[in-house]
Order: sequence, then structure tokens, then C-alpha cells
Amino acid sequence: MTQIIVALDVDSIKKQEDLLKALRGTIVWYKVGLQLFTAHGKRAVDIVQRHGGKVFLDLKLHDIPQTVAHAVHAAQMLGVDAVSLHLMGGSDMLRAAAEVMPRPKLWGVTVLTSMGAKDVKIFAASAKIPTLVKSLAKQGWVGGADATICSPQEVGMLKKAFPHLDMKFVTPGIRPKGAALNDQNRVMTPGEAAALGIDFVVIGRPITHAADPRKAALDILAEMKAAAPKSLDRE
Ligand code: C5P
Repeated sequence: MTQIIVALDVDSIKKQEDLLKALRGTIVWYKVGLQLFTAHGKRAVDIVQRHGGKVFLDLKLHDIPQTVAHAVHAAQMLGVDAVSLHLMGGSDMLRAAAEVMPRPKLWGVTVLTSMGAKDVKIFAASAKIPTLVKSLAKQGWVGGADATICSPQEVGMLKKAFPHLDMKFVTPGIRPKGAALNDQNRVMTPGEAAALGIDFVVIGRPITHAADPRKAALDILAEMKAAAPKSLDRE
């Protein structure tokens, strides 16, 4: 069954705690990302853990291998459950990160879901998002990443391209029908994502900016449950 990770993209500990209280009992996983972590560091992680939540530290690491490996070790010291890194950082960077033991789960970003066709032209005039996502996802798998972060629109293509790999998927870019896209580009509805058997969906504004975040989360959970493939329903 697909799990929701709520992106706590807020600017204060007070707003973070309000969301955690509102969502208590409905959501297990929370994302602490660049905004909250830069402003409040370890405290933001501790607060999620104190509320009994699991932490996805979405720092999208991208640096030389040693620096990234040390950051993965530091994330382990924080007790987070997963940390993200950019697969564009290369195979040596990924290997160095994967060799850190013990370590949180490593979730590899392929191409940001906010990016569109025009943004990847910088790599090559003929660069295409699906081709890039496919190469990066494969590099992630080979290098020891525990999950692929991509758009839900690419999951079907990746499952078809690598039918024998037990690749796990984490997908942002989730928008309920009729919701604002904001800066997202390659999106799908929660039901469509659940029907694909995606492991985790990262959802921010459709929940955190809702007038009633708890209701928004419950509605999305219900939509996903109704759409989940029957074989995954029992998990
Ligand atoms: O508010 P929204 O639902 O767009 O939030 C999506 C979250 O997922 C944001 O916190 C963003 O940083 C994160 N993310 C993303 N695209 C990726 C990786 C992470 O949007 N490729």
C-alpha cells in the first residue's frame, strides 16, 4: 500500500508542530527538507521523532564522494530513516554514500518533478527527461540506492524497462484532481500513483496549505486505498 510522506515545508517550529498535531494518527512519515532544516536543524528532526513520526531528510545531497559520505553519516547520527541524494552526483558519490554503515535509507533523485523539457536541454540539445530518468535510475540501482525518486509519470516506464529489479519508488509531484500545480510540472493524482503501486508519495501543499490538513490527508488516503491494486491492499 502506498504511504504518504508529508513535506513539512514551513518556516517555523510552531507551524511544524501544528501540522504534526493535526495529522497525528493519520500520517507516519514526514519530510524535513531544505527550508526547515536550514532554519532549525536537528530540532526539526527531533520534533518529528518526538511525535512518533519517521523522518525523510530531503537534503538532496550532491557533492564530492567524501563530503556526501560524511553527510550520510551525520544523518545517521540524527536518527533519520531516509536521506536523499542527487543521482547526477555520479556513481563514485553514490557508492561512497552506500558504503556508510550503518546508514539511513538512501533515496536517489533522478530529475526533479518541477523540471520540464526545456530545463534538461542544458545537458544536451537532444536530452529527454524519460531517457535521463532511466539512466539515472539504473545508476542508482547499481550503486546501491534504496529507492528511486522520480515523477509518478515515469514509474510505469521504469517498471517496464527494469522488470526484474525490485526497485522502490518515491514520487513527489502529486496533485489531487483540480488542485493547484504550483511549481510542479510532471504530476499525477494520488489515486493514479496508488494504482501504480508506488511505495511512497511525497505531498506538501495539497495537505499543508489546506484549510483542514487532517481532512485533506484523510481524503487522499481514501482515494489511494480505493485505487490500490488488490494484491497490494493487504500489505
Ligand atoms: O508542495 P508539494 O506537494 O509540491 O511538495 C513536494 C515536495 O517534494 C517538496 O518538499 C519538494 O522539495 C519535494 N521534491 C520534489 N521533487 C523531487 C524531489 C523532492 O518536489 N524530485
